[in-house]
Amino acid sequence: QAFFKPISNAAAPSLTKRHTKISVIGAGNVGMAIAQTILTQDLADELVLVDAKPDKLRGEMLDLQHAAAFLPRTKIVADVDYAVTVRSDLCIVTAGARQIVGESRLNLLHRNVALFRNIIPPLAMYSPETILMIVSNPVDILTYVAWKLSGFPSNRVVGTGTNLDSSRFRFLIADHLDVNAQDVQAYIVGEHGDSSVALWSSISVGGVPVLSFLEKQQIAYEKETLESIHKAVIDSAYEVISLKGYTSWAIGYSAAALAKSILRDQRKIHPVSVLAKGFYGVDGGDVFLSLPAQLGRGGVLGVTNVHLTDEEEQRLRDSANTILDLQGQLGL
Ligand code: 2OP
Repeated sequence: QAFFKPISNAAAPSLTKRHTKISVIGAGNVGMAIAQTILTQDLADELVLVDAKPDKLRGEMLDLQHAAAFLPRTKIVADVDYAVTVRSDLCIVTAGARQIVGESRLNLLHRNVALFRNIIPPLAMYSPETILMIVSNPVDILTYVAWKLSGFPSNRVVGTGTNLDSSRFRFLIADHLDVNAQDVQAYIVGEHGDSSVALWSSISVGGVPVLSFLEKQQIAYEKETLESIHKAVIDSAYEVISLKGYTSWAIGYSAAALAKSILRDQRKIHPVSVLAKGFYGVDGGDVFLSLPAQLGRGGVLGVTNVHLTDEEEQRLRDSANTILDLQGQLGL
């Protein structure tokens, strides 16, 4: 006896409503921060967790399932076998070694490329139409590795990149000016890491371009002040890692915001890691790094033409070369 007596065939799954399935690979601090943000934002009908450690994985799955009474309804499943990810709309990869105190993101490269060889091919096989979102570090090179190993078109492979650095940047500028960070438009582009590039020339607050405003008001600003804010952005992750051991909440919100833009076809612009060849004078080879890109249901829809000064463009090319040098050692 069914609990509900069905009304004609109303209980049959509708053919018109889309079923959205998101898989998160890696149930560590970052994967779980992303998973829980996705749940609270009601982005998926089905959320899948995959991790190599079965007990940790089941514990995390149960702990999230136990919040069911407080959350929008989402089916939460977990398995060590990638078959569980079949027909995902979005696969978010967070698995991998993470930085220890003082270690750079680039130092993780070889360990995490080896892991990606076991992660990306099964994901691509079970979900040939999925969009891959890479979070593991060094995110730009691993996004390139995922693109290569999946054989997907580049619009369906994206790295979270400097979406997070840009949020840190907007927070610091907002703090400095005592305004709301959501009113601050500002981009960090290039490598998610030490060679990132701050686009000072295009910062605006509430639609007002900041540098030209200061110049018009003849308010002196020191280049050092600008540099120190950018340096604080670069130092952010190192500081958090030295204090709590890892970063998790901000990347959780950052990745969930990108998931929302993609799955809800928001066509919003985010600085994310995309195939950058041919944009802003980056022409040294196939390199993924962050540029302001428009995201929608098709993945990366395009790259926005923000104005860069000559110095900013040169720094972006230097950042690309840093990544390309390391990528050259991979033999992919
Ligand atoms: C972050 O920036 C460690 O890449 C990570 O928080």
